[in-house]
Amino acid sequence: MSEIELLLLLSPAILALILLQNLIKSKKATLKLPPGNMGWPFIGETMGYLKPYSATSIGEFMEQHISRFGKIYKSNLFGESTIVSADAELNRFILQNEGRLFECSYPRSIGGILGKWSMLVLVGDMHRDMRTISLNFMSNARLRTHLLREVERHTLLVLGSWKENSTFSAQDEAKKFTFNLMAKHIMSMDPGKPETEQLKREYITFMKGVVSAPLNFPGTAYRKALQSRSTILRVIELKMKDRIEKMRDGREETEEDDLLGWVLKHSNFSTEQILDLILSLLFAGHETSSVSIALAIYFLQGCPNSVQQLRVISETLRLGNVVRFVHRKALKDVRYKGYDIPRGWKVLPVVSAVHLDPSIYDQPQHFNPWRWQNNGNRGYSSSSSSSNSSSSTTTNNNFMPFGGGPRLCAGSELAKLEMAVFIHHLVLNYHWELAEPDHALAFPFVDFPKGLPIRVHHLHDLI
Ligand code: HEM
Ligand SMILES: *[C@@H]1O[C@H](CO)[C@@H](O)[C@H](O)[C@H]1NC(C)=O
Ligand SMILES: *[C@@H]1O[C@H](CO)[C@@H](O)[C@H](O)[C@H]1NC(C)=O
Ligand SMILES: *[C@@H]1O[C@H](CO)[C@@H](O)[C@H](O)[C@H]1NC(C)=O
Repeated sequence: MSEIELLLLLSPAILALILLQNLIKSKKATLKLPPGNMGWPFIGETMGYLKPYSATSIGEFMEQHISRFGKIYKSNLFGESTIVSADAELNRFILQNEGRLFECSYPRSIGGILGKWSMLVLVGDMHRDMRTISLNFMSNARLRTHLLREVERHTLLVLGSWKENSTFSAQDEAKKFTFNLMAKHIMSMDPGKPETEQLKREYITFMKGVVSAPLNFPGTAYRKALQSRSTILRVIELKMKDRIEKMRDGREETEEDDLLGWVLKHSNFSTEQILDLILSLLFAGHETSSVSIALAIYFLQGCPNSVQQLRVISETLRLGNVVRFVHRKALKDVRYKGYDIPRGWKVLPVVSAVHLDPSIYDQPQHFNPWRWQNNGNRGYSSSSSSSNSSSSTTTNNNFMPFGGGPRLCAGSELAKLEMAVFIHHLVLNYHWELAEPDHALAFPFVDFPKGLPIRVHHLHDLI
């Protein structure tokens, strides 16, 4: 075959290729992506994005990118083309359009450790079924009749153990409180018992892996966490077998009115699904609310006046930003505010950037609980606005510490109850100060590097 013949033979293919290339180019040319920097191949700008920074700020990376590119910019994060949004309206738009234009999309490593049936990574019908079970279990009626008493009992158990003029890690104590509460609430495990303490230890190893780089080699935090995951699942499975037997023999105890029993009675989930549900509720319900309590203890001791006027919960959530952003991906090509968000790209609504946006909150880095007092809780400290706004924080469009839309945190009411009851008894019974300087850092999960060491003084005998 001559070269000419070969060329002729191939030319339709070549022509098609050139056409296709032009088509892609012209499609690209009409796309108006937000400005931004895609960084290095593969790792993109992930390192900069994840660099630790003070929890009451948005961090250097966000600051620099917003001032260069605006509140909506493109990047390459966690190995994927990504649109980052610090824009209040776009964040709301993304969260409200879950399942239609966008969908929850956490990195694969999160699914590896929380399990493929974890509510955080599930989408569609399976997510809906698990969510319904969890919401029913944490319904307002149950919060009032059942949980309030338990939350109070576990609060007093922890506070009652604090000795006069002693020093300890407030963060560890807050974790003890939320862990004990969740272990009891989920599997009727009692604080102080060997099995509960063993689970707590495994859980600490597990947590370190969830927030570490997903490197599965011997000795890494991630590998250890995977091992802890199996141990924890074994404990849960034993509890489950035990319960199924009890239920079969009619030996159920009335005090075992917990999530495990609820799921066994009200769902047809498989064993594997129940194990992942319980593990992820333990995860979602423990770390977040304990860090929030530690943040309140921290902010309050720097602001003695506010202790008299406990409007601190919203302000702690706004300024502390326990969950700083959520993971989504675009299901369709989306055009928003003149920008194109291509189908398949990751989208990160950064809720913390809105909470710390000076155009929305006056002096956003100041802990100022009084900003929630006027203007129907909208969080503006200036009273210049005369708008008639609802008095409920949940209708405040720019306040999203628990996410929003169809995936709004299932435990938000429980979390607020835990914070309110704990802080209530704390300020009634104790004076406290920082025993050593410490402050909240976002890694980007929020943590006190020294565990928030405090020294406490009894105001009187515990009431
Ligand atoms: C102050 C404490 C808490 C904060 C700041 C918080 C924040 C959040 C956020 C932002 C989400 C949404 C994630 C996303 O959209 O991808 C979420 C989901 C969730 N949270 Fe919380 N949370 C807290 C406490 C709790 C507690 C106490 C529980 C109780 C078990 C809980 C259970 C859940 C569950 C099950 C989901 C998944 C909901 C779904 O996908 O439908 N959280 N949380
Ligand atoms: C409290 O403890 C500190 C340090 O441990 C000590 O210096 C101080 O004297 C103690 N105060 C009281 C009132 O016991
Ligand atoms: C549970 O039952 C429903 C129908 O009642 C069914 O659609 C669903 O697939 C079942 N789920 C499991 C995990 O078997
Ligand atoms: C605010 O608006 C609601 C309904 O839109 C109305 O019922 C209420 O009276 C208004 N309150 C004030 C103070 O204007």
